[in-house]
Amino acid sequence: MAIDNDRLLELANEYGTPLYVYDGDLIEKRYNDLINYISWPKLKILYAMKANYNLSVLKLIYSLGGWLDTVSPAEILLAKKVGFKPENILYTANNMTDSEVDDVQESGVLLNIGSLSRLERYGKKYQGSKVCIRFNPDVVAGAHKKIQTGGKLTKFGVLLEDVDTVKSIADTYNLRVIGLHEHTGSGIDDTNAVFQSIRNLLSIAGRDNFPDLEFIDFGGGFQVPYHPEETRIDYGKPGQKIGTIFSDYCSEYGRELEMYFEPGKFIVAESGYLLVTVNTLKDNRGRLIAGTNSGFPQLIRPMFYEAYHHIANISNCDGKHKNYDVCGNICETGDRFAEKRAISEIREGDVLSIENAGAYCYAMGGVYNLRAMPAEVFVYKNEIKSARKRLTNQELVDTIIGECEWLQNL
Ligand code: LLP
Repeated sequence: MAIDNDRLLELANEYGTPLYVYDGDLIEKRYNDLINYISWPKLKILYAMKANYNLSVLKLIYSLGGWLDTVSPAEILLAKKVGFKPENILYTANNMTDSEVDDVQESGVLLNIGSLSRLERYGKKYQGSKVCIRFNPDVVAGAHKKIQTGGKLTKFGVLLEDVDTVKSIADTYNLRVIGLHEHTGSGIDDTNAVFQSIRNLLSIAGRDNFPDLEFIDFGGGFQVPYHPEETRIDYGKPGQKIGTIFSDYCSEYGRELEMYFEPGKFIVAESGYLLVTVNTLKDNRGRLIAGTNSGFPQLIRPMFYEAYHHIANISNCDGKHKNYDVCGNICETGDRFAEKRAISEIREGDVLSIENAGAYCYAMGGVYNLRAMPAEVFVYKNEIKSARKRLTNQELVDTIIGECEWLQNL
């Protein structure tokens, strides 16, 4: 483990719980791992900032030379604030509005368009522009059905068989298609699915179809082991194979193109911990329930995707293991981080560490039941930085009142 339990416990004492802690050194390592795995000289890593948009994380990615995959105009604003240049950002929202497209176009960021009707409207308004096209790779893969993005049942991308229509729209409006994109899903543990998606996209990416290509973007989705018994995919070999497939493609294309990947989870998931305190223990006829001071609005993955997050009792690491339901403080029965989970004996006041909480945890959070989101702390090269504070109850209420003008004089 990168940040040891004693250190986590110190941070819990210093900053209070619930608290998110991120390990910057591990983020740096994962970023470099990926670069080393994928053998292609013109490789670009576009970190999917939707996974974790904490400013410390973004600054680190920036300092490592990373680029960004963005999905909303606000993400672009934040990215620019950190220093990312528009030409190092790709915009891949779905079901975009006209005004959003105008904002992004004005910001100088390249749009990645995944529907024929949007492409048509974009072409009409911005004739002669550069554009990227998102295709649906027609491969169904990913850790949970809610996060599989390929195949005809999903809303994402243009179907591969519509390539001729894409070409004719592009020709009509003189659009220069400089990039092609696909994203198959999140948490893909089947590398054959990855190769298949790549091949499917490349099958329509010939020079006859798209003579102006500068890059091909194969999306995110790299697997991260969440369960201690899940094997970690060694991306070394698959990365080499991807290099070979791409090299063959580029030789045929006649030019060495850039290869993009857009990892989110792989870069940040393992770096994060959510520290929570158990304040209420119950023994319901043998069913042990540990009630904590956090809840699903602060980490929704177990409730939403039945996702497994490992939980350690860092106040009593050597205690005898018992099975616990680890619950939150929200008024819903499904508000559980784990069910019948073997954890070393929990006492009221103990701090639990919910692991792999760096991706899509804080980022998917909210203030349901009006409880402020946890603070965030960033640890990098032995330095501890407070990366975002927890709002006080008064500040939380003030933001709500502040959002509603007519209420301000209450
Ligand atoms: N590129 C595109 C176009 C995406 O839609 C996504 C994720 C990524 C890249 C990054 O995928 P990653 O490498 O992180 O798997 N909230 C879910 C995951 C949703 C992923 C959404 N799109 C979860 O907590 O599992």
